[in-house]
Amino acid sequence: MERLEGWARPFSGLGKAIAGITNSVYKGLGFPGRLLQDLLNGSFLGHTTHGLLTDAAVGAVTALLALDAWAVLFGPGDLEFASRIVLGLAVLSAWAAILAGLTDHKDTASGDERNIATLHGLINIVATLFYTVAFFVRIGEGVGTARVLSLIGFVLLASGAFIGGHLVYKYGYMVNHNAFSRGKRAKDFTPVLAAADLPEATPVRATLGTTGLVVVKRGDVVYALKDTCSHAGGPLPDGTLKGDTITCPWHGSVFHLVDGTVVHGPAQTRQVAYRARINEGQVEVQGPLP
Ligand code: FES
Repeated sequence: MERLEGWARPFSGLGKAIAGITNSVYKGLGFPGRLLQDLLNGSFLGHTTHGLLTDAAVGAVTALLALDAWAVLFGPGDLEFASRIVLGLAVLSAWAAILAGLTDHKDTASGDERNIATLHGLINIVATLFYTVAFFVRIGEGVGTARVLSLIGFVLLASGAFIGGHLVYKYGYMVNHNAFSRGKRAKDFTPVLAAADLPEATPVRATLGTTGLVVVKRGDVVYALKDTCSHAGGPLPDGTLKGDTITCPWHGSVFHLVDGTVVHGPAQTRQVAYRARINEGQVEVQGPLP
């Protein structure tokens, strides 16, 4: 499968340019752009939006293939109206999936991961163009031509989906980076840092066994999160504080310090959080929270 990485490498420059353009567009849109980004990343859902939309698109094009196969084998009957509806849904969900995919892609690490994400996206854009043309040809009564265009689109879409699977399962693309390491459990409050080493409103590293933490003191309250960002593993102790939130230095995900909930993406999964307190000169943590 290393061959896939080789095929994707020539797209390195293009991937970087696309990510830069997407970033600039979102920055230009300001706060509404931030909300749109959260929607398309899936930060509101706690689940990837791209995955939902690709499921819809793949389901629709598969249904279209079945309807077309039935019509070719057994005669058109009255399936044409259903075929057009399904094709229209496929086109809409595929374009929406492309928008969500571009939103994920802009915060992807450079190298093979982004190259493969770029190749995956380009193939699916071409596939969606085929389906879009097929839709307009089909409503113009060019059913035979539309079927051929849709069949080409299906082969392309299936190839793109295969590469998308490779991206997720090999690289853990848009997968919770704390999924396999939830953090050490502390049934009772356990000391992790001397309180004297914890300045006001400054993220500080601490460890609970082998689990890295970021600890923050604001007035009388102490917060503790796992130090590895759920989006792609960025170092939260290097993040910036704003009120009761911390912003990851890599792609700007914002988490509530209280319980690790996602305020803004690209992260979709709540950050692992512990209860924290100061007791007898020590910062102590207990958890993680369920
Ligand atoms: S690693 Fe991407 S936002 Fe933290």
